[in-house]
Amino acid sequence: MIEKIQSLKAEIEGLTASSAAEVEALRIKYLSKKGEVSLLFNDFRNVPADQKRQVGQELNILKNLATERINALREALENADDAADDIDLTRTPAPVALGTRHPLSLVREQIISIFSRLGFTVAEGPEIEDDWHVFSALNFAADHPARDMQDTFFIQRNPDVLLRTHTSSVQTRVMEHSQPPIRIICPGRVYRNEAVSARAHCFFHQVEALYIDKNVSFADLKQTLLYFSREMFGPDTRIRLRPSYFPFTEPSAEMDISCNLCGGKGCSFCKHTGWVEILGCGMVDPNVLEACGIDSKVYSGFALGMGIERITNLKYQVNDLRLFSENDVRFLEEFTSAH
Ligand code: DAH
Repeated sequence: MIEKIQSLKAEIEGLTASSAAEVEALRIKYLSKKGEVSLLFNDFRNVPADQKRQVGQELNILKNLATERINALREALENADDAADDIDLTRTPAPVALGTRHPLSLVREQIISIFSRLGFTVAEGPEIEDDWHVFSALNFAADHPARDMQDTFFIQRNPDVLLRTHTSSVQTRVMEHSQPPIRIICPGRVYRNEAVSARAHCFFHQVEALYIDKNVSFADLKQTLLYFSREMFGPDTRIRLRPSYFPFTEPSAEMDISCNLCGGKGCSFCKHTGWVEILGCGMVDPNVLEACGIDSKVYSGFALGMGIERITNLKYQVNDLRLFSENDVRFLEEFTSAH
């Protein structure tokens, strides 16, 4: 018995633990009801009477030793934990790199917000379209060059499945399913079969606006354009309309704004004209209304379409279209402070 006690003492003195769970395992192994030390106490009754005093003393010493050793191990671990509490929680953390909004998204949101103040709501349509929604319903003649392979991406050589070349297709979709009053703005991506360069891209973004009701006139269009231009480019902005041609509007116009860099005095940006072109517009051609099931004798409307890249270039002087889709963070980070 004494020998057993001595060997256990040596064992207990050498105990180590690296986690609270290990300490607990040791406590169970030695000190629980069925632990090694406790079992020795159970054997105590078999010790001959003349040895009881000595063995009893030794057993008590062993039990104290085990208790102290295990408590010491536990405390040592808890103190190590306390060291973690010394971390300075008030210290400023390492900066987290926050993403920025893409300049095209910023400008798109701004355009939507301006038009929504005039009561326009957002409408969207598919990027994969058919000929009717993109061309035929919009009064494009069968031999119009925009339908040509050179401009339009066709899918699976099927001339009736194509990537939309303009967001005017969303006009068609809304008009064929609803009756006036219609007041929508349609932002979206469009595709054209162009060689990629600083000035042209095979995909870009447009916003289309359409307003159809009774008695909508060219004056309404003009006032909307002026309001939009001043909200977008500042209160001193002037606009001018030049006659133009689009199959889906009659009359049609292109709109210039006074150059927002030189204020109209003339600079290299506006090629010393004082004006920069920003969008196409016009009164919706009655043929388009009729093709979409709207009575052109009762209703009239205007439409306009602009390139988001173009507006962004004017606002932020980005002069290479490729920057918008390269996702170079050095470029994107320049817009961190833009709202
Ligand atoms: N769809 C034309 C384009 O892609 C832009 C446009 C011009 C839209 C005149 C219109 C408009 O709604 O009235 O170039």
